[in-house]
Amino acid sequence: MHSFGYRANALLTFSFTILALMCAIASLTDNFNSPSPTANVQILNVNRFQKKSTGDDEVAITIDISADLQSLFTWNTKQVFVFLAAEYSTPKNSLNQVSLWDGIIPAKEDAKFSIKTKNKYRFIDQGSNLRGRDFNMTLHWHVMPKTGKMFADKLVLPGFRLPESYR
Ligand SMILES: *[C@@H]1O[C@H](CO)[C@@H](O)[C@H](O)[C@H]1NC(C)=O
Repeated sequence: MHSFGYRANALLTFSFTILALMCAIASLTDNFNSPSPTANVQILNVNRFQKKSTGDDEVAITIDISADLQSLFTWNTKQVFVFLAAEYSTPKNSLNQVSLWDGIIPAKEDAKFSIKTKNKYRFIDQGSNLRGRDFNMTLHWHVMPKTGKMFADKLVLPGFRLPESYR
């Protein structure tokens, strides 16, 4: 004695349950993928290195970023947001993080790349701390899945150093 409405509703609920289950399995199997991205960054040139009138240091560099992030892509990956940051410590702050470049990788085919670029965002220190400063380049990524939780990770590329004097 079930009405049409009841049947339609039951069918809808059933379909929705299947869909939810498929999404859960999708994000679950995705977790089994253990990505192994690689990256290499080189400073090709220090184009400008100055103390500004505000007293803050600013450096402009040309960098070569090579990376292979293809292993981050699974069939459940929508896109990957990636950014390169310079990380260093000063007497005042144990961690200073300056974003230098970023990009969105829409597909696996684009995840292996090599680009030469000037820093897209300004590399400014709030103070006069950049001369002879040791720093790390870190490549961060945020993986946006089609379904499931976003996840983020990074690669630390240590051993960079800024010049001793302004130029
Ligand atoms: C730079 O990387 C090295 C090695 O991973 C680490 O020991 C150090 O703390 C890092 N420096 C900063 C400022 O994050």
